Amino acid sequence: MKVDVLLGLQWGDEGKGKVVDVLTPRYDVITRFQGGPNAGHTLEFNNIKHVLHTIPSGIFRADKINIIGNGVVIDPCIFKKEIDSLLKLGFDLKKTLLISKKAHLILPTHRLLDAASEAAKGADKIGSTLKGIGPAYRDKIGRDGLRVGDILNNFEEKYKARVKQHTDLLSKYYHFDYKEALLDYEKAWFEGIETIKQFQLIDSETVINKLIDSGKSVIAEGAQGTMLDIDFGSYPFVTSSNTITAGACTGLGVAPNKIGKVYGIFKAYCTRVGSGPFPTELNDATGQKLRDVGHEFGSTTGRPRRCGWLDLVALKYAIMIDGVTELIMMKADVLDDFDYIKVCTKYKINGELTEDFPHELDGNEEPIYESLPGWNKALTGVTKENNFPVELSNYIKYIETKLHVPISIVSVGPNRSQTIER
Ligand code: GDP
Ligand code: IMO
Ligand code: MG
Repeated sequence: MKVDVLLGLQWGDEGKGKVVDVLTPRYDVITRFQGGPNAGHTLEFNNIKHVLHTIPSGIFRADKINIIGNGVVIDPCIFKKEIDSLLKLGFDLKKTLLISKKAHLILPTHRLLDAASEAAKGADKIGSTLKGIGPAYRDKIGRDGLRVGDILNNFEEKYKARVKQHTDLLSKYYHFDYKEALLDYEKAWFEGIETIKQFQLIDSETVINKLIDSGKSVIAEGAQGTMLDIDFGSYPFVTSSNTITAGACTGLGVAPNKIGKVYGIFKAYCTRVGSGPFPTELNDATGQKLRDVGHEFGSTTGRPRRCGWLDLVALKYAIMIDGVTELIMMKADVLDDFDYIKVCTKYKINGELTEDFPHELDGNEEPIYESLPGWNKALTGVTKENNFPVELSNYIKYIETKLHVPISIVSVGPNRSQTIER
């Protein structure tokens, strides 16, 4: 079997958690391959609303294996909180959740370095979730990281050496008063390490490849979105990992020829949380309406999300980078009450029209829109494509024609059940 990949195509929060949960019955194994607790993936079913940060979104379906891959960065403290809250709901994950020994650890000082770095950037800050993601990946690439497998021997010694490097940096370079915050966080962090030890720590690349060879089906759940990718996103306002399809290969240890379907998820409009360019952003009543109706507030930080119309220039670029084979359109219901819906098809840059995504977004991209009629009907109760208002069918057809990829699923509400396959 192959590994199917599911990714956000925009700036994150497209609804990945919901759709992975919906698709999980078709798969034996659900994996995360990059990112860490900067992610917040929301699932809703049977009156439960749950936000996952590190744990794959297959965890609520019985008899599935969930794997945290080598490309993920784990904060033991946040991981423990997630495990404890799932236990309260009656889900004991000890048998179904496996963790790669090669996944890197986010140290308490990584969080402090994230805070110090953002404070030092002032108005130019990235708008990080402040979960220590950048500093943890920086240490990984700089060959100074600590991995889950390190927990198993001489851990305290290795930990102290890393923390010494970090506290030197905090005090001497950033002049950051770290002592109290570090003491506060360390105790919970080491409790989290004890929780991690209770799980099966595995060579996930070998386990995953054996599962594939034995005919098991695997889905890889992306975090963040293609426009936040470290190479192809709106650098430097990006996250610190490869959020794209290729990231699933390096973040799980599966070869490119083992990748099967690539599901690309997008909202019927656009959102972004944190700083950085956003060509179709609406700083007006329409943007506010999208935020209010779509409840667009960050699942991890609670920050209001910036909102705007769908951007086909960026979406086409993401589809190219990711090799998307099927599109999934989320939150169509948020557009229920609009007389017209705008779609950006080109940018005007220095007087020139282009459909190609520029090497850098610098705020000088004027979005050029086409307008389509809205449906002005509630989609929430719609369960079949046959019942779609004609304007929604036309909106879908319009996007498919522009992007040359079929939309296989349309989501019309946050609940598992509000998902329509075409
Ligand atoms: P993720 O990070 O990609 O998993 O997305 P988030 O969970 O951060 O944000 C998506 C938000 O939209 C969550 O609050 C979901 O419950 C909600 N959601 C998902 N699909 C739909 C939908 O089709 N309609 C509406 N109204 N909300 C949705
Ligand atoms: P999910 O998986 C939306 C954004 C942050 C910030 C930038 C860098 O839920 O879609 P970081 O904490 O990685 O240093 O922040 O990336 N960001 C996200 N935005 N959804 C996410 O994850 C995000 N993870 C990070 O807001 O702009
Ligand atoms: Mg999210």
